[in-house]
Amino acid sequence: MRLAVAALIGLTLVGCGERPAADDAAARGQTVYLAQCTACHATNPAHPGPLGPPIKGSSRELLEAKVLHGTYPPGYTPKRTSTLMPPMPQLASSLPDLAAFLGSR
Ligand code: HEC
Repeated sequence: MRLAVAALIGLTLVGCGERPAADDAAARGQTVYLAQCTACHATNPAHPGPLGPPIKGSSRELLEAKVLHGTYPPGYTPKRTSTLMPPMPQLASSLPDLAAFLGSR
C-alpha cells in the first residue's frame, strides 16, 4: 500500500512538470534513440545514417514491427531491402517514447 501511494505521488509530481507530458516522452525517446540507434541511423533521424535510412516520422506501428520483431507492418514497403538491423525486443517499454521522438521532428 505504501508503495502504491508513493508511486501515485511520484506520478503526480511528474505530471506537474513544466513541460507537457508529450515533450517529456519525446525527450526520453531522444535519449534512447541516441544510445541505441545512432550506431547505424543518423543523429538527426531525418537524415540517412552510416548504415540505416532516415526514420523521422516512423509510425508507432512501424517501430513496433521493426524494432521489436525485425519485421514490417502488413502492406508496408520498406525503405531498404536489406535485413541488417537486429530486432531489439528489450526496448518494448521505450517504444512510446521513441515514437514520440521520431514523430516530433
Ligand atoms: C545495427 C545497425 C542498426 C541499429 C542499431 C538500428 N538500426 Fe534501424 N535500420 C538499420 C538498417 C540497415 C535498416 C534498413 C533495413 C535493414 O537492413 O534491416 C534499418 C531500418 C529501420 C527502420 C525501417 C525504416 C523504413 O521505413 O523502412 C526503422 C523504423 C528503424 N530502422 C528504426 C530503428 C530504431 C528506432 C533503432 C534504435 C532503437 C534502430 N533502428 C537501430 C540499421 C540499424
